[in-house]
Amino acid sequence: MPETVVANDDFKRIVDTSDEWISTRTGISTRHFSSEPTWRMGAKAAKAALEQGKIDPEEIDLIIGTTITNDYATPSMACLVQGAVGAKNARAFDIGAACSGFVYAMDLASRLLADGEIRKVMVVSAERLSKITDFSRRESCVLFGDGAAACIVEKGDSPAYSYLKSDGTQGGMLYAHNPDRGANPFVPEFSLEGEFPEPESHAVQMDGKEVYKFSTRAMPEAVSEVCRKAGISPEELDWIIPHQANIRIMATAAKALGISMERIAANISRVGNTSSASIPICMDEMNRAGRLLPGQWVCLVGFGAGATYGAVLLRW
Ligand code: UT7
Repeated sequence: MPETVVANDDFKRIVDTSDEWISTRTGISTRHFSSEPTWRMGAKAAKAALEQGKIDPEEIDLIIGTTITNDYATPSMACLVQGAVGAKNARAFDIGAACSGFVYAMDLASRLLADGEIRKVMVVSAERLSKITDFSRRESCVLFGDGAAACIVEKGDSPAYSYLKSDGTQGGMLYAHNPDRGANPFVPEFSLEGEFPEPESHAVQMDGKEVYKFSTRAMPEAVSEVCRKAGISPEELDWIIPHQANIRIMATAAKALGISMERIAANISRVGNTSSASIPICMDEMNRAGRLLPGQWVCLVGFGAGATYGAVLLRW
């Protein structure tokens, strides 16, 4: 996590808000903001993961980056991380699945590991959402934070299960434009008329209520379906580690699934919404705290722009 910590009360200086509103509507108390490029946050997380696993960077066969806030249109964040950590035997690329990025990457990693040629995959999720946050809009600026996490995945003894979905008709509820990269002298200027409204900035545009409704449907569906694939019931899960968007979304989904909030891992109060980095940041905290134990059923569930959603079920 970046060092700068900003509390709810600090937002009173820039927008008409209160700690009471933010904490009761979202569960967020503080978030971290970074002054570093996204890829460098990702590289730090990748180095920490390699050290923790005592893994030589040259053993990594593939790096999958997940981010909606890459510093460059190209190269990918994954390639920049590869160069920084010296993973010279890896192939590297980013995927774009917004807040579901980590879940999508874990599904992909598991399928590629099954093939046999790739033995170690590093998933790096890094987000500097403050780059695409409009700090004059109180309904969104209080939600987001920056952060990064990485994990190294190998083929294990028990299978991983996954259930991934997208609904491309719902893109307009949560989107951000790329910055204009200059006009083409050979063709007339075009607009995105008929697509998502062109905003004045490239900040995140969000219909909070629609995202809320979608998320509270998507999360229970993804968890139930991935459990069905594994032949277990949601009550048998030891942990659900959800995308950290709003504590009320997690509570509503837990209720729909008939699961106690004690089994929902949540660190949103300290870190806010860090998009694709939120699940692995929370997973790392749980792991370091010794709360993830061998043999436990751990379900990772994400949802976000696209719309995308999905769950991965692992036997820890
Ligand atoms: O990764 C996915 C990213 N996005 C999300 O997860 C967002 C999902 N949506 C949500 O979490 C919630 O919809 C929000 C937290 C964004 C909003 O909560 P809400 O309970 O749906 O509030 P609301 O939009 O109905 O707004 C209620 C009131 C409004 O005032 P009026 O019209 O009732 O006078 C807003 O203007 O709260 C006002 N409001 C605020 N007041 C103080 C909106 N933002 C703030 C704020 N401080 N920061």
